[in-house]
Amino acid sequence: MTSYKDLGLSNTREMFAKAVDGKFAVPAYNFNNMEQIQAIITACLETQSPVILQVSSGARKYADQTLLKYMGQGAVEMMKRMAAEKGLKEIPIALHLDHGDTFELCKSCIESGFSSVMIDGSHHSFEDNIALTKKVVEYAHKFDVTVEGELGVLAGIEDAVVAEHSTYTQPEEVVEFVGKTGVDSLAISIGTSHGANKFKPQQCTKNKEGVYIPPALRFDILEQIEKKIPGFPIVLHGSSSVPVDAVKIINENGGALKDSIGIPEEQIRKATQSAVCKVNIDSDGRLWMTAAIRKHFKDNPAEFDPRKYLGPARDALIKMYKHKNENVLGSAGKA
Ligand code: G3H
Ligand code: 13P
Ligand code: ZN
Repeated sequence: MTSYKDLGLSNTREMFAKAVDGKFAVPAYNFNNMEQIQAIITACLETQSPVILQVSSGARKYADQTLLKYMGQGAVEMMKRMAAEKGLKEIPIALHLDHGDTFELCKSCIESGFSSVMIDGSHHSFEDNIALTKKVVEYAHKFDVTVEGELGVLAGIEDAVVAEHSTYTQPEEVVEFVGKTGVDSLAISIGTSHGANKFKPQQCTKNKEGVYIPPALRFDILEQIEKKIPGFPIVLHGSSSVPVDAVKIINENGGALKDSIGIPEEQIRKATQSAVCKVNIDSDGRLWMTAAIRKHFKDNPAEFDPRKYLGPARDALIKMYKHKNENVLGSAGKA
């Protein structure tokens, strides 16, 4: 058993209390490899933002669970060294399991040093979701690991689950769910979804530049939830904006992305003014990384040193994460 405390990581309790109070959201960025983790830590340290490093079960398989533990620890040590070098204050870092689907997976992550886990029982019945989430909470809290649960289903593809349609969170269920499970935060469904095709073109209007404008998030549902559980930490998954600039670079350099539509950043910014205190972003990182690599290959067809194309990809990620912290989530300066 490795405790996250020995790795220098933080759980999310204090991060969320500050974020709810200060009306900002802590970024939760997914990573699968070294360049992504370097970019996240660099951007969050330089903007002085707390951060949640997210690992999906797919990432855990891809990067190897043992190596991941050391990447979490390495992230903390790299942050401390960089902070000393640059004369910056150290930032809190949580290592979080994203979309855990079984008790065993959550337990394994807790034992290998994760400071926070999500148990996503949203595809089960309400009763089974409560039972599974409660079991994870009881285990996690013994080690002061925080737990995120989910009510309502997001459309899109995740590792373990594929949902064609979203089901909005029912505000009348949240009090019972939070009370019976003891979760520390709650992921809700109010119109966001996973991946780069969050809406169909026919659901959207177009602006003067021909950019799709999707329907607004269901802020009315968020408001009703907040009335039921005032100040309780709320999480938004599927919050990438799917930037048209990144999609354009990808498609101009050999890619074939079609009808890519995300959540406009103003909508996420508006959500941070509520008890939404954690915002999950993965796809935007994937898009900017792919855009930088595709462009590099098109411009430098003879290149074969991975550092030459992963370096620009890492730079593009740093720029994007800083932008999110400073201009979308409001987490810059809140470490
Ligand atoms: O919620 C989904 C995240 O984007 C993780 O995606 O399961 O393909 O690693 P993944
Ligand atoms: P995006 O696909 O919108 O980046 O959402 C990521 C996410 O919710 C990870 O849990
Ligand atoms: Zn998610």
